[in-house]
Amino acid sequence: MTLNEELYKIEQDAQKTLEEASTAEYLDAFKVEYLSRHGILSTFLRGIKDASIEEKRTVGSRANTLRIELEQKFESKITTLNKGLNRKIDVTVPGKRPAQGHLHPLTIVRREIEDIFLSMGFEIADTPEVEEAKFNFDLVNIPQDHPARDLMDTFWLNDGRLLRTHTSAGQGRVMKNRKPPLRILIPGRVFRNEATDASHESTFHQFEGMMVDKDISLADLKGVIEVVLKKILKREDAKLRFRPSFFPFVEPGIETHVSCLFCKSGCATCKYSGWIEILPAGMIHPNVLRNVGIDPTKYRGFAFGGSIDRLAMLRFGISDIRLLWSGDPSFLKQF
Ligand code: DAH
Repeated sequence: MTLNEELYKIEQDAQKTLEEASTAEYLDAFKVEYLSRHGILSTFLRGIKDASIEEKRTVGSRANTLRIELEQKFESKITTLNKGLNRKIDVTVPGKRPAQGHLHPLTIVRREIEDIFLSMGFEIADTPEVEEAKFNFDLVNIPQDHPARDLMDTFWLNDGRLLRTHTSAGQGRVMKNRKPPLRILIPGRVFRNEATDASHESTFHQFEGMMVDKDISLADLKGVIEVVLKKILKREDAKLRFRPSFFPFVEPGIETHVSCLFCKSGCATCKYSGWIEILPAGMIHPNVLRNVGIDPTKYRGFAFGGSIDRLAMLRFGISDIRLLWSGDPSFLKQF
């Protein structure tokens, strides 16, 4: 091989190696192999000292040009590579925000309800979801033959127990063997064996409250309801009205209506009435007090039993109760 051919081969190899070097490590290796003092090019140049003057001049100058060319290419590749690297760690590029969890709307509302009642001196009680008929029905004045038993579509268990149909089932559990004054809140899950639609779920949540003392009246009940509902709905301008109603465990029983939060002139939520029924309540029936061992001639009390789901729906403008337990992230993300 002539020196010319040898140099040609070195050039081909060097160009190819440089072309293919895609990382800083490969580029460094290239520099050591071809351009360093003991690299291929320097070794080649040292080796031509015995060649003819003519050859030395042409091949030597070609080799030097090649070195300059390779050095320039090497530098520009390093620069491009660094630019690429810089882009990867550019701290000004907007980051991807990691998905962050948050409380479920029902949990938000339940905790707020609990906080409000705690601030009014209530204690919070937890009573069983799997309940005895005695507590779900008998003690709250719904005897065996009472039509109200049929009104509540009950999930019965084989052993005669049931899934509580309302948190009123907890009344007997928390009041039995206790002496008034009592202020108790029972939040929890309840179950109904019925077809579901936009406003009915087979599982939902209630909060049952009771206040029993010597001279409790409907006025106390109205006062408490007013404070609680305005705080939870976050609407100080909400108007409330009370209407007589019937529930076996209270006498008199009342319905609480809140002025529609969504319209002024009628909408689907208020069924074009301007009012939304929200919190059933009443003065605890003497039979219930007697059943739990409290003398109704000495003590009186009020009770109420609201749906946490319904309050959450009104508060957040949710139109279908089934969404609450759908587990659908696109729904839950909105809170
Ligand atoms: N337990 C009733 C229900 O689930 C709600 C209720 C109404 C509870 C009136 C009360 C009350 O304490 O006084 O439909």
